[in-house]
Amino acid sequence: MNNNDNFFLRNTWYYALPSDQIKPGMMISRIFLGEPVLLVRSQDGKVSAMRDICPHRGVPLSCGRFDGQEVECCYHGWRFNPVGSCTAIPSLVEEQQIDLSRFNVQSYEIREAQGNIWIYMPDPDNPQPPASEMEIPVIPGFDERSPQFVEIVKFPCFVDHAVVGLMDPAHSPYVHRAWWWRNEQLHEEVKQFDASPYGFTMRRHRLPENGGRLYWLIGGGVPETEISFRLPGVRIEETTIGKHRVVNLTAVTPISDTETEVTFALYWTLPWVGFFKPLMHILARTFLDQDRTVVEKQQIGLKYNPVLRLIKDSDMQAQWYYQLKREYARSVAEKREFVNPVKGQVLRWRA
Ligand code: FES
Ligand SMILES: [Fe+2]
Repeated sequence: MNNNDNFFLRNTWYYALPSDQIKPGMMISRIFLGEPVLLVRSQDGKVSAMRDICPHRGVPLSCGRFDGQEVECCYHGWRFNPVGSCTAIPSLVEEQQIDLSRFNVQSYEIREAQGNIWIYMPDPDNPQPPASEMEIPVIPGFDERSPQFVEIVKFPCFVDHAVVGLMDPAHSPYVHRAWWWRNEQLHEEVKQFDASPYGFTMRRHRLPENGGRLYWLIGGGVPETEISFRLPGVRIEETTIGKHRVVNLTAVTPISDTETEVTFALYWTLPWVGFFKPLMHILARTFLDQDRTVVEKQQIGLKYNPVLRLIKDSDMQAQWYYQLKREYARSVAEKREFVNPVKGQVLRWRA
């Protein structure tokens, strides 16, 4: 594998931020895929996004003000509505009629559901509207409920290393070694995988009593888990324990070539789990920090552009990720249907 894969996947939805981070009347400036983006939530509750650069003289619009309806640039007061249309240029006198639409700012499509805000990042060279087949991910069984718990960690690496690191089944015994986390001998895992929309799914399986201790503690039934991955970097792990359900959404968003944001959100139906929230924050933080720390070390080696060797079966999911990503980019470029390259199969590894 060489580094020809180092591109951002475009014309697709990325996780932007948790809904509760942006209240009505607020604006937030972010970088996604190397582009400055201004997110605003109007007084009526709708989230919109536009390029965070004033088309007049380049000041970030986020340096200005948002009154809940329009953004005003801090430099000469040009105004823009939430979809980036220029609505006023204060310095113009009565006779100076100009077409304000010439100064519109690029806007981005936004979707908000289940407590998450997603942004569609088009390809500037080949912009295509969101395809109806590739809607934002849905957390099964939670209707419009928001996550009870969100943890966000920045990884100092290119997006692919964050994605591959999170789906890598062989690193746990080495990276996540801790007294409270499985510490026993390596054992063999055998899991059936199937192709699923824009990705693949580890078929629903019963959690072993030693591997899913926390879930077995909940009681009320046998814990069963299904894990799915889909482009561009979304992993959904759904565990059912009798009538209860715990779902973890992990979403990976590139910030720049060297920085990636990983959002870890948890949904659950057990009312009393909220009691353990502080403990869960610590566990999730520790877990994600371990992943981040090893990626930091990886950066030291990657500076020298080594050829990376992906092996089977433990790196099969990583290989699928690269295949999916290439196929998606090609299908968009060739304006044809996406053909999922994943062939369902059983994977075996020791972990
Ligand atoms: S730079 Fe924004 S109004 Fe002039
Ligand atoms: Fe990990």
